[in-house]
Amino acid sequence: MIKRREFVYLCPNFGIVEMNVYIKTKVMKKTKITVVGAGNVGATCVNVMVQKELADEIVLLDIKEGAAEGKALDIMQTATLLDFDVKITGSTNDYIKTAGSDVVVITSGIPRKPGMTREELIGTNAGIVKDVAQNILKHSPEAIIVVISNPMDTMTYFVAKATGLPKNRIIGMGGILDSSRFKCYLSQALDVPANDLQGVVIGGHGDATMIPLTRYATYMGIPVSELMDKATLDKVAADTMVGGATLTKLLGTSAWYAPGAAGAALVESIVRDQKKIFPCCVELNGEYGQKDICMGVPVVIGKGGWEKIVDYKLNAEEQAAFNKSAEAVRTMNNVLKDLKVL
Ligand code: LAC
Repeated sequence: MIKRREFVYLCPNFGIVEMNVYIKTKVMKKTKITVVGAGNVGATCVNVMVQKELADEIVLLDIKEGAAEGKALDIMQTATLLDFDVKITGSTNDYIKTAGSDVVVITSGIPRKPGMTREELIGTNAGIVKDVAQNILKHSPEAIIVVISNPMDTMTYFVAKATGLPKNRIIGMGGILDSSRFKCYLSQALDVPANDLQGVVIGGHGDATMIPLTRYATYMGIPVSELMDKATLDKVAADTMVGGATLTKLLGTSAWYAPGAAGAALVESIVRDQKKIFPCCVELNGEYGQKDICMGVPVVIGKGGWEKIVDYKLNAEEQAAFNKSAEAVRTMNNVLKDLKVL
């Protein structure tokens, strides 16, 4: 892990020179992260995490013989090129190697094909995700679980119900990705750097269920609605909502660079206890007017998982959209009952 260290350097000619440098030190408790699923999203997530040196060890696990070992080895061979020091372990379905993980990212499941909705994946992915969650908890009972598998809202709900873990330890990755896409489209429309923008997407992580909060989007504090006409802002919101589907159409499969990086950003806030606010899918218990559901709302992310829900004051129109989104997510969750997996 990286720690900022101050130390004193005795320089023969100039006496004592104080240096303030970043050096690599091992923190007392070693951090271990597991990513399950060595597909594009899982491997990209590992690739970003090692470059940020988020852990002492990162395990990549997949059911397909050799896939995780291969990707882990490939990423390992970038260590001297990219200057990182993280042990990377690949594993074909051997959960013993994941033992003692602090954070586990679940990306397993089949990805979307063009024309396929995230919802259509429920049956197949529910079985896979349940199996993964149970195996993980056998070896890492204290782990914080980040769910990326689609349909993400339903898979997060399913993990919560199937494992009975404390709710703060289960986080669905969706809103952070959708918000990043929102800021990307805003930056293109305004021709300004995406990093100077604030934008939050809440609700479900579905083409029709996500809610880009245009009213709260700003460019260095200036509401974006003052900087572009309504039609342009509406188009940005609409493009954001189909952000994943647009990529699926272009690529012939689900996107991976932004989803992988979004997963890594979420894990970073956990392992470094950054307390960043990200919109994530979490279990609601009356917040935002909903309960017995997992949906995207802004939360503080730190070493305890999601630590606090941030209450954006929604206006009547936004609350109505949130309620409608919840209805759609609930309909998907009910498929779990219909399929008798819950
Ligand atoms: C996407 C998938 C990862 O939105 O849900 O690209």
